Amino acid sequence: MEKKRNVAKLLWLLMFFSDIVPFSCEKSMRERALELMQDARLIDGHNDFVLQLRILYQNKISGVNLRELNKTHTNLAKLQAGYVGAQFWSVYVLCSAQNKDAVRLTLEQIDVVKRMCNSYEELELVVTSQGISDSRGIACLIGIEGGHSIDSSLATLRMYYDLGVRYMTLTHTCNTPWSESSSKGIHNFYPSVIGLTAFGQEVIKEMNRLGMLIDLSHTSYSTVKAALNISKAPVIFSHSAAFSVCNHSRNVPDDILQQLKKNKGIIMVAFNADVLACGRKVVNISTLADHFDHIKEIAGSESIGIGADYDGVEHFPEGLEDVSKYPSLIEELLRRGWNEAELKGILRENFLRVFREVENVRNTFGVMDAGESEILQEEKHSCRLDLGKPQAQPSRSFALSSVAQPFSLTLVSCLMLYYEIYGV
Ligand SMILES: *[C@@H]1O[C@H](CO)[C@@H](O)[C@H](O)[C@H]1NC(C)=O
Ligand SMILES: *[C@@H]1O[C@H](CO)[C@@H](O)[C@H](O)[C@H]1NC(C)=O
Ligand SMILES: *[C@@H]1O[C@H](CO)[C@@H](O)[C@H](O)[C@H]1NC(C)=O
Ligand SMILES: *[C@@H]1O[C@H](CO)[C@@H](O)[C@H](O)[C@H]1NC(C)=O
Ligand SMILES: [Zn+2]
Repeated sequence: MEKKRNVAKLLWLLMFFSDIVPFSCEKSMRERALELMQDARLIDGHNDFVLQLRILYQNKISGVNLRELNKTHTNLAKLQAGYVGAQFWSVYVLCSAQNKDAVRLTLEQIDVVKRMCNSYEELELVVTSQGISDSRGIACLIGIEGGHSIDSSLATLRMYYDLGVRYMTLTHTCNTPWSESSSKGIHNFYPSVIGLTAFGQEVIKEMNRLGMLIDLSHTSYSTVKAALNISKAPVIFSHSAAFSVCNHSRNVPDDILQQLKKNKGIIMVAFNADVLACGRKVVNISTLADHFDHIKEIAGSESIGIGADYDGVEHFPEGLEDVSKYPSLIEELLRRGWNEAELKGILRENFLRVFREVENVRNTFGVMDAGESEILQEEKHSCRLDLGKPQAQPSRSFALSSVAQPFSLTLVSCLMLYYEIYGV
């Protein structure tokens, strides 16, 4: 009996002085992080899973189990394990589709989001801030990444809104005829465009009128400044980080973070290792948390959200390899002294505040205010109908000789585009 008691005492002492004590502390941090996330499930601003569905399955998903898929950073089981309450699915198409079939390809990506979200009971398509609040599963939202998807057409932008698109990133890595990208030298589109052109300003107005969130990730600083100057609603960066911590051109400098705070918008911080660490070797949760700490210092925690960019890039910090790992970030921020209100803000409440305000601004416009501006396409594209010319209806005998040749040329050039995009 006595012997047993001594052993027990010894064990207590051991626990005290060994690393069992810090371990038990750590565990309670984990528990606090999970409890917090149960209360405030994450709204993530950017995920490229549906791009992977095109690459891996050409969007033929009926035979694929998206709950267990392991080739991607994302699957439904991992989203649940990561306490994700809402996900913006990016409907991204390559810049090389600009002025070609970008609209069709974007529609196909919207279609695959809808089919996915309608096929699984844990997913639910929503289009409003209230829809996110009411959803008990994982709310699906749609964001377009790159203004090339509207093909310089406000009507197309409006139809995307009708299909449920709730944000548009003004550029990807290419300029459009009306907006400047932060990436230089990747594509050669419209090199003389700086910031937003007059038409670009019309796009901002139309997005305000529709109630579509303006996403400034990937855009140049001139574009960001012009958009912040015009927008009547708060804006977002759906997946960016802090330039002061890593001076990557994709990241947001402090003066813009201060303007973002005035705009009451948010930067949803990306987990993309390349934009977090500028090539440093060790990229871990501390690297990511440094960006959060810095942005909080400059613009306050109310200006922050999360937009990890899973399945959009290859490299993620150690410990954040897939969508089940979000709680580890929250744990680290708790350890760094972030309080629960701040963390609920970055997980969820800050984004909801922005989305509600975007909806409020929409409600101040009338339906008759729809933008009708156009820009004339300078280049002629073989796949487009020339609306400036009256279209003669060829008679039957005339049709084969004079129409067949240009038609087959058009067909060949369209097929060539297809090969270029898919690398078939
Ligand atoms: C994916 O991995 C999980 C966990 O390792 C496993 O249970 C599941 O069967 C795998 N699914 C597929 C489709 O390989
Ligand atoms: C902001 O808007 C004002 C008034 O329309 C204009 O004078 C100014 O040049 C704009 N600034 C930027 C950076 O676009
Ligand atoms: C980032 O900083 C490095 C080292 O100071 C410098 O060489 C590089 O030009 C900077 N890049 C940008 C985009 O400012
Ligand atoms: C991240 O790596 C740095 C440098 O090796 C290390 O000091 C730090 O403790 C690591 N952080 C985590 C959360 O593992
Ligand atoms: Zn991106």
